[in-house]
Amino acid sequence: MQFVADVDLTTKNTLAVPSRCDWFCAPENMDDIFEAIGWAKKRAQKINILGGGSNLLLAEKISGLVIQPKIKGIDILAEEYGDVLIRVGAGEIWEDLVNWAEQNSLSGIENLTLIPGTVGAAPIQNIGAYGCELKDVFEQLTAINLESGAVDIFDREGCRFAYRESIFKRELDQKYIITHVVLRLSRSPKLNLSYPALANAFVDRDISQIGSKEVLSAIRQIRQTKLPDPKVIPNAGSFFQNPVISQLQYEQLKAEYPLMPCYHQPNRQVKIPAGWLIEQAGWRGRQKNGIKIHERQALVLTNPEGCSVDVIYSVARQIQSDVQGLFSIHLDIEPRYIS
Ligand code: FAD
Ligand code: EPU
Repeated sequence: MQFVADVDLTTKNTLAVPSRCDWFCAPENMDDIFEAIGWAKKRAQKINILGGGSNLLLAEKISGLVIQPKIKGIDILAEEYGDVLIRVGAGEIWEDLVNWAEQNSLSGIENLTLIPGTVGAAPIQNIGAYGCELKDVFEQLTAINLESGAVDIFDREGCRFAYRESIFKRELDQKYIITHVVLRLSRSPKLNLSYPALANAFVDRDISQIGSKEVLSAIRQIRQTKLPDPKVIPNAGSFFQNPVISQLQYEQLKAEYPLMPCYHQPNRQVKIPAGWLIEQAGWRGRQKNGIKIHERQALVLTNPEGCSVDVIYSVARQIQSDVQGLFSIHLDIEPRYIS
């Protein structure tokens, strides 16, 4: 495997943030990954992991070795009672997997269509959309410990999934390379039409006549009208997470803003769409220092001029401050920072 010096990562992140790293490699199998870990250890180089770069904020200069796993393969492991267990290489593109499932008449991940990035990154923030999350179909993953070289298995509980959360964003951040993910798909359609925008798309339809293909095409249409294509307008999808607030704070805000959308959570908590908060704070469609807040979805910061990560952070801080001032709600940034 080649270790390449001084690599430009500008086209390897969907926000088009200008960035270079000291060293770069793209392992295609487990042995390549062991080689990369040994190489970095010998030279005392820090390791950072890059997937498709669709949820990242890259520093202008990244020190050490950037590893971009390219392990491929989708294999059926077992079939039991109509469920099909599949094992997928971390370097597979998530949308290729969604298409493979569609072609093989396997249900379970149709609501997660058109999420950019790789399969290996999907557990990191427990990707979610339209009422479904990765954890709903997740069985286990294989990952290599960057310190010890041990190959470890994490089941669903071990991953500590929650909304946009996993153990790999917390104490195990940049400590493991995920190499394979095992998912449980279903031969019979397991459709979830609970998300309001999706339910609306089928409002006049007989639900019994709706299959996976209709769900896929409805979600693709909704996404394409709202979200900018990163190949055309650089972006990282939602820039902030949707905040979860207490029932008390929700009731106080609801009295003042009766039209505020919300999703009730367990434990008397309420999730508020950050896009709505940002729009109320006057940022939808606004341009500042080269950063544009998307017209059709205020949760998306776009970077049409290819500004640096510092510029993006400065605009993000202004948005956070305006939302905090208006609603007393803090917005957490979703993309991961790598330096
Ligand atoms: P990267 O951005 O490259 O990396 C993300 C994190 O994962 C980093 O911390 C990285 O170090 C780590 N990582 C990557 N690969 C591995 C590995 N093999 N082992 C260990 N760590 C690894 N997300 C959603 O949840 N729902 C959405 O609906 C959604 N819509 C989006 C729409 C657009 C237009 C865009 C641009 C992004 C969207 N996202 C969404 C965010 C993004 O697509 C997901 O978070 C995706 O899983 C990131 O995958 P990636 O391969 O690009 O990871
Ligand atoms: N809204 C506004 N103004 C806006 C944007 C949204 O008022 O500018 C309102 C909408 O009218 C709607 C509500 O907010 O009532 C929710 O909007 P939407 O359905 O677009 O979803 P979201 O909460 O903004 C989340 C995820 C997306 C995911 C969609 C669909 C987060 C941070 N974002 O967005 O994920 O695709 O739901 O499930 O949870 C991503 O993570 O990158 C991402 C795109």
